[in-house]
Order: sequence, then C-alpha cells, then structure tokens
Amino acid sequence: MAIISSKSSSQPKPSAAPTAESPKSAGAVGQPPDDASSQQQPSASPSPIQPQNASEPPSASTKLLEADAQGDEKERQEERLRPQRLADYIGQKSLKEVLGIAIQAAQGRGEPLDHLLLYGPPGLGKTTMSLILAAEMGVSCKITSAPALERPRDIVGLLVNLQAGDVLFIDEIHRLPRVTEEILYPAMEDFRIDVTIGKGQSARTRSVGLQRFTLVGATTKVGALTSPLRDRFGLIQRLRFYELDELTAIILRTAEILSTKVTQDGAEEIGRRARGTPRIANRLLKRVRDFVQVKKLGEINQAIAAEALELFNVDPVGLDWTDRRMLTMMIENFGGGPVGLDTLAAATGEDAQTIEEVYEPYLLQIGYLQRTPRGRIAAPAAWQHLGYDAPDSQLSLLNS
Ligand code: ADE
Repeated sequence: MAIISSKSSSQPKPSAAPTAESPKSAGAVGQPPDDASSQQQPSASPSPIQPQNASEPPSASTKLLEADAQGDEKERQEERLRPQRLADYIGQKSLKEVLGIAIQAAQGRGEPLDHLLLYGPPGLGKTTMSLILAAEMGVSCKITSAPALERPRDIVGLLVNLQAGDVLFIDEIHRLPRVTEEILYPAMEDFRIDVTIGKGQSARTRSVGLQRFTLVGATTKVGALTSPLRDRFGLIQRLRFYELDELTAIILRTAEILSTKVTQDGAEEIGRRARGTPRIANRLLKRVRDFVQVKKLGEINQAIAAEALELFNVDPVGLDWTDRRMLTMMIENFGGGPVGLDTLAAATGEDAQTIEEVYEPYLLQIGYLQRTPRGRIAAPAAWQHLGYDAPDSQLSLLNS
C-alpha cells in the first residue's frame, strides 16, 4: 500500500498550514520507502545534510533541510507506532465491527468502500483508521487536510490522480472552502468533476470522469459540516475515548516497538494520565522513556511513571497546566460558571476553538465540565480535584 501525503514537505506549504493552527501536528503522515518515486521528498537516510564547516553558521537553506529531515525522521517513527491492519488495532470495538463488514462487503462486490466520515476528538486514530482501510482494501491512501485545499485546482489535482479504489483522506474536512466542497459533490456521488474551460462568453463546462474512489473525511466538529456534504457519506462513525485497559495495551505495544521496558502498572499509570487518547499515551510514554534514560533508572514502573509525569506537569487524571488554569479561572473568577466560551477564551488567553475541540471534550467526558445553554460550568468533581469545596449553589445549578 502506498501512502502519498499531500502534506509532503517537498510541496509548497499552504498559507493556512494545518500544523500551524491545529494541535494535531504529530499526526502528519510520512512516506514508506517504496513510495519514493511518486513524491520527491528529501530522503533523511542517508542524511541530505552536509557536514557544516564549524566556523560557518548554518545557512538558512541548511537549517530548513535539517528541520525537514528531523520532521521526516519523526514522521517515520510515528508510522512505526501505527497499527497496520484492523486486527492490530486496539479499541474502538464497534467501529472495527462496522468497518470490517463494510470492507468484506465491498471486496465481495469488487467495489470500493463507501465514503466514510470519521468524527471525534483529536488523537483517537482517524488517520490511522483511514490507512488501515486502504491496507485492508489493498489500495493507496492519499492524505491531505482541508486547509491545504484552498484553491479548486488543489482538490482537482488530487482527484484526477486517484487510481481505482484509492482512499482519499481529508483531515479537518469541516474547514473545506465552499468552492472546494462543491467540486466534491459530483466527485463523491457520480465520480466526475465539472471543470470550466475558458473565460467569459467562451467559457464551457466539461464533465471529467474520475476513477471510483473512497473519500474518508475526518473532523473534530461534525456539526460544522454542511448537510449536502454530510449526506454524501455512506458511513458516519464516531471515535470514542479509549478505556484504561485499551490505553494500557497500546502503551505496552508501543513500548515493545520502541524497545522500552515497562511494567503493567507502569503502563497503567501512563494510561490513566493519557486523557483517553492513544496519541497522548504514546507521547507520555516517550517522555517517561527520556526520564528513565537520563536518570539511569531501568524499567518504567508505576512510581517512576508517576514521578516523571508530575515533572512534566501531567496530573493523576491527565490534566495539564492549561486544563487546570481554565478550571481554576472558572472557579475563582466566575464562581464556577456558567461562563461563555468566548469569555473563557479571553480570560485564559487560549483560542476558543482550541478550548472547544482539544480541552473540553475530555473534561466533559470525565464529568469535570458541563455545557449548559447559559455557558460552561465547572462540575463539583473539578472543584474537588483542584482542592476547592463546591458550594451548594453549584450543585443546584447542575441539577436545574
Ligand atoms: N497506536 C496508536 N493507536 C493504536 C491503536 N488503537 N491500536 C494499536 N496501536 C496504536
């Protein structure tokens, strides 16, 4: 299976670079070695970086190459951690069942998979699942992100180059510009696009046929999709936060791939602090691995994991500095709420969209935050966790 990422570092960066605005920068997908012919990515192995003359400062272009090579290396490492097949994928039981049936049925008919919309908080495995679908179907997966599809020709270029059955993955699909979205409608429905040739009075519209393909859209905000786009997906599936036993299994699997020794209770301790999210679990494991290596501590057990993660400001339920500041602000400055999202954003200096899409879902999930028509409320569990006594008025607010 070839993975062709239009996030490729060899292409001009889109003006609204996904990694610049999105917390998902760790999710960028790199290239397997067999894909080298289709993308001219600078290869990091052997390194394209020439040894520097020690007396000369590195040039701007060398710095860029270094950054690219480091990025590529990181992407390759991320790739190694992704499960490759449905059978290796831990968690999301009902999603796997649904997709397993869809794959078998499509293969039985010799057709591509139906278009699929995956939604849920960041880091739960939307990109991974798309790559797995392509692997199971024996096709390529082309990966892009809506902010990279600014101009009609960006999406047209991708669509006309798809091979029969290919998967086209569009991340953050709720951010597609209107013109791009409208090109997708006939592409999804009839596997054709309407292109306008010429200008003014001589302009003519021609219908261009496409190969039958599968669009996998991913979003953290399913409600922000227009209904014509949403309605064109045959399957709409939500990814849920992972249970502790699933995160523990993921951490043990990753530790094995990274040749890092971790005990069951060490993995559980990391899992408890991973906000129900595999991407965070793997990130925390790497930070604890650094800690153990530098302190020459041997294998990761519960006490070591806890000590390391306290150092990295990740508390026993996975809250970080921003979560705690947000909740503390709500409690101290707004009596626990209700407080509007924009007010909270202004008070904390965080971006409203980041609060809504990154921080809130987990706080809602663990019952620390509630959304009401009048605004957000810090729930009694949050008061308690942060060492405050929740007043009775707060309890009655939640029950009203
Ligand atoms: N690594 C990250 N997510 C994973 C998952 N769901 N299953 C196995 N390994 C993973």
